[in-house]
Amino acid sequence: MSISTFRTAVVRTPSGPDSIEIIDVPVVEPGPGEVRVEIAAAPVNPVDLGVARGLFHAMGLVNQPERTGLGWDFAGTVVAVGPGVDLAAGTRVAGLVDGFDRDFGTYAEQLIVRAADLAVVPDGLDLVAASTVPLNGLAAAQIVDLLGDAPAEGNRLLVTGAAGAVGGYVVSLAQDRGWQVTGLARAEDEEFVRGLGAEFTTHAEPGWDAVADGAVLQERGLALVRDHGDFVGVQPSAKPAAERGITVQVVVTHPDGARLGDLLARAASGELPTRVHAVMPLDQVAEAHRAVAKGGVRGRYVLKP
Ligand SMILES: NC(=O)c1ccc[n+]([C@@H]2O[C@H](COP(=O)([O-])OP(=O)(O)OC[C@H]3O[C@@H](n4cnc5c(N)ncnc54)[C@H](OP(=O)(O)O)[C@@H]3O)[C@@H](O)[C@H]2O)c1
Repeated sequence: MSISTFRTAVVRTPSGPDSIEIIDVPVVEPGPGEVRVEIAAAPVNPVDLGVARGLFHAMGLVNQPERTGLGWDFAGTVVAVGPGVDLAAGTRVAGLVDGFDRDFGTYAEQLIVRAADLAVVPDGLDLVAASTVPLNGLAAAQIVDLLGDAPAEGNRLLVTGAAGAVGGYVVSLAQDRGWQVTGLARAEDEEFVRGLGAEFTTHAEPGWDAVADGAVLQERGLALVRDHGDFVGVQPSAKPAAERGITVQVVVTHPDGARLGDLLARAASGELPTRVHAVMPLDQVAEAHRAVAKGGVRGRYVLKP
């Protein structure tokens, strides 16, 4: 009997883009509450570069005997459903798999995923665009949850990296919660940031009521918060130490199918941008990683398995 297989990108001895291998692994059937998705698109996110160069292995966050999977978010089509799942084969979905310690990822032709972590992709939003939403849309939504509703007094929020994937979504979503948002980004990003309804700056002075740190400025970002203000970071493994009565929090993005459904609806309506820099075949994953590592990219590299 022949075993059917699918292709996936993994690292065994992580040491950067050249250590990424594409291997064949056996297809398995979804268990209760799970579906099998044929992946149409998987974006390259900054975290994937860290996994490929062994950053999280070195921190002790990965303990895989054979290989570590790459990729956190995806869009694709349901091809098989497990018991108790109310989704038909053929449904277009997007989703997020989280955590570092896993032998599978979204840089793959197929994925087994919990149905509760998925959202249906609205008609009119293509799968490449949809794939760019889950990780960074949910990160932004969960950052805004940590900030909460803006107080009536003191609602000036600085979003660093406002032209990035996380920052851009925070700029958009925080305004719904009453924050008066200024985006810190490069000079060439002004039109994009203002287009999201925010004020724009390339250089921020201290004194902000809150800072959401999409640019990973860390202590330099914390220094921009007023005494007793709020700071939300994006690096759980490097949370800046609190000072001056500032509330310091850090987002650890988790799957949330219902929330993702709302974010995809906002993407379909154009309210949330879905920027794609390039679409590349899975075989060119190392090249895509090298390009992202250079920095300055606007929009995602999206892999097509
Ligand atoms: N904790 C979590 O759960 C979680 C979830 C998602 C993402 N993240 C992390 O969040 C970070 C951002 O991710 P992303 O996908 O949004 O990255 P991104 O798309 O590359 O965005 C980062 C943005 O920050 C800008 N930037 C960097 N330094 C700046 C400075 N000094 N002034 C102005 N702009 C500056 C970059 O511009 P240039 O390209 O010109 O430098 C870029 O536009 C990454 O570290 C990622 O790993 C964490």
